[in-house]
Amino acid sequence: MTTTKIALITGANKGIGFETARQLGALGMTVLVGARDEARGLEAEKELLEGGTTARYVYIDVSNEETARTAAAWIEAEYGRLDVLVNNAAITGSSRALPSQTPLDVMREVYETNVFGVVGVTNAMLPMLRRAEAGRIVNVSSEVGSIALRTDPASPMAVMPPSLPYTSSKTALNMVTAMYAAELADTALKVNAANPGYTATDLNRNSGFRAAAEAAEVSVHLATLPADGPSGVLWGYEWTTDGPGSCGILPW
Ligand SMILES: NC(=O)c1ccc[n+]([C@@H]2O[C@H](COP(=O)([O-])OP(=O)(O)OC[C@H]3O[C@@H](n4cnc5c(N)ncnc54)[C@H](OP(=O)(O)O)[C@@H]3O)[C@@H](O)[C@H]2O)c1
Repeated sequence: MTTTKIALITGANKGIGFETARQLGALGMTVLVGARDEARGLEAEKELLEGGTTARYVYIDVSNEETARTAAAWIEAEYGRLDVLVNNAAITGSSRALPSQTPLDVMREVYETNVFGVVGVTNAMLPMLRRAEAGRIVNVSSEVGSIALRTDPASPMAVMPPSLPYTSSKTALNMVTAMYAAELADTALKVNAANPGYTATDLNRNSGFRAAAEAAEVSVHLATLPADGPSGVLWGYEWTTDGPGSCGILPW
């Protein structure tokens, strides 16, 4: 019987998700490259395969729950199991307006992907994850969603430009994470939120100061937590105003 772990990463065709797939693959996992665009998904699959990773593209548009259910049925049929789910896909939405000028349609669009998408994909995959010996769910969140940091004048988050849809979607995702962790506390599953840190990707027109490979290490850490590791925390890069920062548990 094979014991290779199976990991599904949503939004894995580029950025932090692609690097997460690459790093989990390097640890010997079979990685399922969730992507909403077939050409981009297949391109990522090809690049991963060429790099020695056992990778397969799977179509998932996280804003369409039906695609998550179809993907879950396919994974069940092909592998009969799932060990790791990294809910990585997200969008920022087009609005950088002040909260008072934020269009509701942008709020809805961002929540469909960043919040409802995570719930839909998680619920579709949960039956398989529950059966895993050491199932791990990683919700890629952000420190910008931390109310504690946003309201702390000493935190760099206090002066981040306004983006109500994105920041509040990550706040909601943090609670989604805490609620799943509570529900699954008596199981082998661990559910945590990841903070990759401000990373140069298409999401921010490559303005971040961290590399995607460094950011992916946060998701990989949470995806490979030992049995005595935490569940129900926001963990990752701690951006301070003094010093280079390090990794640890961040306040919600
Ligand atoms: N970069 C940062 O500074 C930073 C900081 C904190 C947290 N994060 C989080 O890190 C995660 C990865 O972001 P990134 O920086 O790597 O951004 P990115 O390069 O823009 O990648 C986002 C990925 O999500 C996919 N995606 C978007 N909507 C989707 C949908 N409906 N269904 C399936 N896939 C979808 C994109 O696919 P397409 O190629 O098809 O668009 C892409 O693969 C996100 O959760 C983000 O919020 C990033």
